[in-house]
Amino acid sequence: MEKNYTPNDTLISKRKKHFIPTTYLYHDKPLQLVKAQGTRVWDHEGNSYLDGIGGIVSISAGHNHPKIKQALHMMLESDVIQHTSMLYLTEYPVKLAEALVEETPEGVNKVGFTNSGSEANELAFMASRHATGETIIGNLRLGYHGGTSAAMAQCGHGTWRFRAQPNASTTSALAPNCYRCPFGKKPDSCSLECADHVEETIQTTTHGKIAAFIIEPIMGVGGFITPPKEYFQKVAKIVHNYGGKYISDEVQTGSGRTGEQFFYTKDLGIDADVITTAKSFGNGAPIGVAIMTSEVADPLAGKFYFNTFAGDPYPVVQAQKTMEIIREEKLIENAKRMGNRLQDGFRTMMKTQPLIGDVRGKGLLIGIELVKDKTTKTYATQETAKVMDLCKDKGLLLGKGGLHGNVLRIAPPLCITEADVDFMLKTIDESFTECQKA
Ligand SMILES: Cc1ncc(COP(=O)(O)O)c(C=O)c1O
Repeated sequence: MEKNYTPNDTLISKRKKHFIPTTYLYHDKPLQLVKAQGTRVWDHEGNSYLDGIGGIVSISAGHNHPKIKQALHMMLESDVIQHTSMLYLTEYPVKLAEALVEETPEGVNKVGFTNSGSEANELAFMASRHATGETIIGNLRLGYHGGTSAAMAQCGHGTWRFRAQPNASTTSALAPNCYRCPFGKKPDSCSLECADHVEETIQTTTHGKIAAFIIEPIMGVGGFITPPKEYFQKVAKIVHNYGGKYISDEVQTGSGRTGEQFFYTKDLGIDADVITTAKSFGNGAPIGVAIMTSEVADPLAGKFYFNTFAGDPYPVVQAQKTMEIIREEKLIENAKRMGNRLQDGFRTMMKTQPLIGDVRGKGLLIGIELVKDKTTKTYATQETAKVMDLCKDKGLLLGKGGLHGNVLRIAPPLCITEADVDFMLKTIDESFTECQKA
């Protein structure tokens, strides 16, 4: 590479000196990523990697897509205003809102832009509380909804919470985790005890009315936990019976990543009152959105929700171009085909790799849970970090999640090719074998 980059050791020591100590680096020998194109990224020494986690589940159309580059270039060249705030008229957020409501379930059509997924969920909580006059928001253990205060109060991971984090006005139900069912059931013989637990939670920990319940269709940070469709339909009815709004957090599942519709909520037939999304929606730009029904949105009239940068032209155009590319390049169909190819490959691999306890997910949102023993299901935390490092050394970047850090997370850009998938399968298989030997 022609540029002289600051060495990694210097960056690490300066980060230690200047950053608050909450940052975390993937890998024993962290990477300095400097360039990206399509499904690939490069480090400062010119080594190339297949991006199997898409930033953090945030690249959909592909890194530096030519159509997005051209649009942003043209805007800069012609001095398009960078910041206006919503206090002035601009056509960009209006066009994006129109495109978005084409994709939502009927009736979910009032759009509030934000800069991130956390802010989108904050807006969803505020609107639900305002509409119902109730304070309690329910959540699922092992869920994650963002790093801001109200979102963190809904976090189902002790590892992510801070000491003295206010936790008022929330309640949580057990996670619908089929691989580790908290009720000791098997998926083919259960009666959705996990959905009944939502009702029991409301009955036993609230006064009988709630403002909302927030649920991810696939639990991302939790390790891509993938509950059955019937779970969501049953829970939505329960939430509504207790006066609450159903918030479907599609920050990770949105933008067609599941290989189904743009919003997975639609495929699951969830009667949602609010859908939030971010991440892949902006293909790397900081933008989020909460989309709600009139019943949730209309009571906000007369209130002022101000968010300085939300709806500004550049991130909005990046999101709009991303939506166009996803449609024109049939990336949702690709996510389905490539996701199936990956899952088939992992299921075959599972027969010969003792570390693989479970393979789950949908489309290009795939989790591989690593266990030391398939019967006891003991968390293979160190092994997961090791496999990630081995894959990195072979030119493949993966993510990880789960409360115990024992789930490999695979969420590449939606434009991934068959050759990329086959490289991924081969690399992961080899890395498992090497890890097992070590
Ligand atoms: C399901 C879910 N919701 C919300 C968020 C928060 O989004 P952001 O980090 O953009 O604030 C995340 C981030 O990982 C997420 O996974």
